[in-house]
Amino acid sequence: MTEAERIEWLRAELHRHNYSYYVLNSPTVSDREFDAMMAELTQLEAAHPELRDDNSPSQRVGSDLNNEFVQVVHKYPMLSLGNTYNREDVRDFYNRVKSGLQGEDFEICCELKFDGLSISLTYEGGRLVRAVTRGDGIRGDDVTANVRTIRSIPLRLAADGDYPDVFEIRGEVLMPWESFEQLNRQRAEQEEPLFANPRNAASGSLKSKNSQVVASRKLDAYLYYLLGPQLPSDGHYECLQKAKSWGFKVSDAMRLAHRLEDIFEYIDFWDSERKRLPVATDGIVLKVNSLAQQQRLGYTAKSPRWAIAYKFQAERARTRLLDVNYQVGRTGAVTPVANMEPVLLAGTMVKRASLHNEDIVRQLDLHKGDMVFVEKAGEIIPQIVGVDSEARDASLGEKIVFPKLCPECGTPLVRYDGEAATYCPNDTGCLPQLKGKVEHFICRDAMNIESLGPETVDDYFARGLIADVSDLYRLTITDLAGADRTRLKSAKKIIDGIEQSKKVPFDRVLFALGIRFVGKVAAKAIARHFRNIEALRQASKDDFLQIEGVGEVIAESVMRWMKEEKNASLLERLKGVGLQMALPEESKVSDKLSGKNIVISGTFQRHSRKEYNDIIEAHGGKNVSSISSKTSFVLAGEGMGLAKRQKAEALGIEIMSETEFLNLIGEEAKDEEPTLFSLF
Ligand code: IVH
Repeated sequence: MTEAERIEWLRAELHRHNYSYYVLNSPTVSDREFDAMMAELTQLEAAHPELRDDNSPSQRVGSDLNNEFVQVVHKYPMLSLGNTYNREDVRDFYNRVKSGLQGEDFEICCELKFDGLSISLTYEGGRLVRAVTRGDGIRGDDVTANVRTIRSIPLRLAADGDYPDVFEIRGEVLMPWESFEQLNRQRAEQEEPLFANPRNAASGSLKSKNSQVVASRKLDAYLYYLLGPQLPSDGHYECLQKAKSWGFKVSDAMRLAHRLEDIFEYIDFWDSERKRLPVATDGIVLKVNSLAQQQRLGYTAKSPRWAIAYKFQAERARTRLLDVNYQVGRTGAVTPVANMEPVLLAGTMVKRASLHNEDIVRQLDLHKGDMVFVEKAGEIIPQIVGVDSEARDASLGEKIVFPKLCPECGTPLVRYDGEAATYCPNDTGCLPQLKGKVEHFICRDAMNIESLGPETVDDYFARGLIADVSDLYRLTITDLAGADRTRLKSAKKIIDGIEQSKKVPFDRVLFALGIRFVGKVAAKAIARHFRNIEALRQASKDDFLQIEGVGEVIAESVMRWMKEEKNASLLERLKGVGLQMALPEESKVSDKLSGKNIVISGTFQRHSRKEYNDIIEAHGGKNVSSISSKTSFVLAGEGMGLAKRQKAEALGIEIMSETEFLNLIGEEAKDEEPTLFSLF
């Protein structure tokens, strides 16, 4: 098999496994095997830039190149559907269809109404060529690069499929509940604004300019509408079953109804059953099944006469707003929280709801004592969606106005460009920020000082024992226990815990500092890259951008933090008390590669690329990902890409073979691999 054939084979295999995993939900290989095949494919593709294919499974990880969206006119406008909210309206729709078709028999296709954002995909010759958002229905944004990262959307259809040469298929891009909750948990940890529901999260993600971000968001897509000059059947349902056989994710919940009663049964069933689905649905869609009949029924200016949406009643409760508190987090973000009379909503008592930010408070125009509607946004966060203005009387309560000053310390609040949150900038004197920083510092993933909890931290602040995290290390048993002998034991435990934390490795110390946007994973990557705080403090933005998973936002945030005088002095104090400010030297074999930045390219005989990475580090060198003037040399295996080679040559950078490299580090390298012959 030539390398080109191998690439083709790997691509087909990976497409097939992807389909089994993300569309059929029945994996056909282990994650390890999948990863190994993907690694091989990426390596071969790097060596063969001339065989690049935007629809290769390797493209699903996205790229961090800034993609500006181009507007594209839809070949067929993307209409919306008329909405109905009760059975009467459904009956009216049914009767309108019946009379429109003058007594002819008809079937209604019942489907779930997925709550995401609609997308139109164009396929030519079985390949995805374009993905466009709805936009204003006439033109939308070309988001193809982002859509390629959605694993359940096929990039290439099976070669022997009976699909038309050119067709469009439309559907809904969704963020499953699980991914939504995970994303919001992460955002809460970083004190970033939460997404109110999976639809906003899906749409925010799909419109990201960085397709790597999209890839990390775990989006899914269901397809529900096939269009084109040659469709496989006159039936909408049948067309979609065909589409399913071509590899598209089509919901199993579609049913053909012959009578109005069948439709009501479908509605009743899914009204409760939908709560068990992995994705959000907000209603059902009814469509006349025959395409010929659809044509005869035609369209109004905005929507088809052959289809309608029935919206489920969202789980919503009505209760009284008592007042609004403002919570200041460790980053200074001020979150308005509504206190309400307790009310039962979707099985739980709710008495508090996040109002997210200043703009939302303004939009809702809340007054104390208002009757408000509360809905569950996800399965977790209740939110106020509106005010029952009819219930307001002359005794209208005091208007809720977002404060101009920090409710905790009185400092004027600020807003930063492009951010919805409002901040208290007083990070050295605002108590909840100070406490929040200490609480973050001691948490399990950071310094793991388990013997301390939020109440103890509050108490130490109140007693003036600590003002920042470095003070923890000056505490003594007598400070904590005072004259109270019964507190001796717990005081000792706390001091022990604090002492133990001095062994916590540098990457977690870095996370514990609570630098904005630096989560656990980023902290680890940064610590591993720079190895110690000195190198980190001197790093340039380019140095940061070399690290996988670190982009501009993180880089700038860390650099800004490091530059501030007060942080530099905090670091000095923490170093002074003995915290780990460097990762331990890795079992170093030699210093032969010390100060060398080495790019690894191609495939090798003796060791894997990962092993070469370790070898380089063991000899004091650094493996960097792209060739630049700072590169010391390229360790080139078989099939190093032409573009890389030219770049290295243009910059006058040495290209070293595997054998030369092994000689350099003193590992015995045989020039030839033993052949079968030489073994005998
Ligand atoms: S059919 C002309 N089917 O609901 C018919 N739409 O207001 C085109 N939606 O923009 C739409 N699930 O984003 C159709 N099973 C489904 C749907 C669905 C969700 C969305 C879609 C559309 C909106 C209609």
